[in-house]
Amino acid sequence: MSGTDAQVQIRQMKKEDIAGAANLVARAMNENEGKWADKTMNFHFECMEKGMNDGREYYLWWKADKIQGIVGLHHYEWGPPENVWLAWFAVDPMLQGQGFGKRLLDAVHEKAGDLGYQKFFIETYLHPDFEKAIRFYKKYGFTEHGRIDNYLPDGSQMLVLGKSI
Ligand SMILES: CC(C)(COP(=O)(O)OP(=O)(O)OC[C@H]1O[C@@H](n2cnc3c(N)ncnc32)[C@H](O)[C@@H]1OP(=O)(O)O)[C@@H](O)C(=O)NCCC(=O)NCCS
Repeated sequence: MSGTDAQVQIRQMKKEDIAGAANLVARAMNENEGKWADKTMNFHFECMEKGMNDGREYYLWWKADKIQGIVGLHHYEWGPPENVWLAWFAVDPMLQGQGFGKRLLDAVHEKAGDLGYQKFFIETYLHPDFEKAIRFYKKYGFTEHGRIDNYLPDGSQMLVLGKSI
């Protein structure tokens, strides 16, 4: 079986994975997103330690003792129970374009279905750093659900994509 034929197995993230996961986000997206990922993930584990459910789950794809991919599910506790948002989705830049992103998306799609969610949403941005990701999501069935003007500090729009689970 070649590397690209191999299935992507995901496992739930642990607190000690935060630095590696945020580093992957920074390399795949940009430094700023890496900092936000670090903050979000630290908040998540602090909530868990205090017995609070923040509606979030993070999964990692490991290969050769290294984090090669990350994906999160964010559910707003105050929102419709069937909705979930894909968050911090990234594949190591060295491994992109070989079909691993699709396998990671399939794995988290299955996980979201098992958790009872029915609608997938993604918050992304009309900015050059995310062009590749937007093309990827649309190729795999996500459609545009809305835009928010002037969302990022540089004036970029937020783009919401969605798909049934
Ligand atoms: C979005 C992302 C996770 C996709 O991961 P990926 O591993 O590159 O995805 P895939 O390889 O499955 O698909 C990407 C492309 O490679 C192509 N591809 C798939 N299998 C392939 C293979 N075996 N050989 C060559 N190309 C292949 C796909 O057709 C797709 O083509 P496209 O460029 O026309 O869309 C990745 O690009 C990434 O980490 N981006 C930066 C982070 C980011 O922006 N995340 C989203 C934030 S909202």
